[in-house]
Amino acid sequence: MQRVPYNFNAQKNLDVLSKGAFLTTKSGNKINTMVIGWGGVGVLWRLPVFNVVVRQNRFTYELLEKSREFTVTLPYVDLPQALSVCGTQSGRNMDKLSACGLSVVKSQKIATPVLAVPGMHFECKVVYNRLMGQEHLDKALNELWYHKEPNDYHVFYFGEIVDSYITD
Ligand SMILES: Cc1cc2nc3c(=O)[nH]c(=O)nc-3n(C[C@H](O)[C@H](O)[C@H](O)COP(=O)(O)O)c2cc1C
Repeated sequence: MQRVPYNFNAQKNLDVLSKGAFLTTKSGNKINTMVIGWGGVGVLWRLPVFNVVVRQNRFTYELLEKSREFTVTLPYVDLPQALSVCGTQSGRNMDKLSACGLSVVKSQKIATPVLAVPGMHFECKVVYNRLMGQEHLDKALNELWYHKEPNDYHVFYFGEIVDSYITD
């Protein structure tokens, strides 16, 4: 494990994120991971933050609301099967980690683990969250991205990055 600054490999990481990264959550003894393609690393309130957007109908949303922490894993290897399963199936109905042969390892600073895959990992504590308001959204984007499923507006979560590192 090599500890690196939150903005290390920023260009590569945004590229990886746009193809699919893993957002892992834990509440009680339930651990779940889902694929994210949107979000980013930045600075807010003088803190390094990872922002993610999670639709309210995701199981991840339920876990995040309880735990208020998450990890993000940007894989540096190709994981097509894991991206497909974790990006289409819900942890409500199955244990996605074991279905994909994925395992987790303990985080350094928070209770939510990180995926045991080579890549860059971020440990985050939610410092702000907010359901997006339709009235503030560009009309064309509203038509393009929403109303296809129930409860599909995103909740924005800003997580303070409390640790970041790379694993092989
Ligand atoms: C490439 C890709 C990117 C995705 N990005 C997001 C995202 O940023 N936010 C989101 O809410 N869902 C996103 N999804 C959909 C979720 O990963 C998917 O609905 C998942 O099954 C939810 O799992 P859960 O119910 O266990 O939380 C994405 C799916 C794919 C394949």
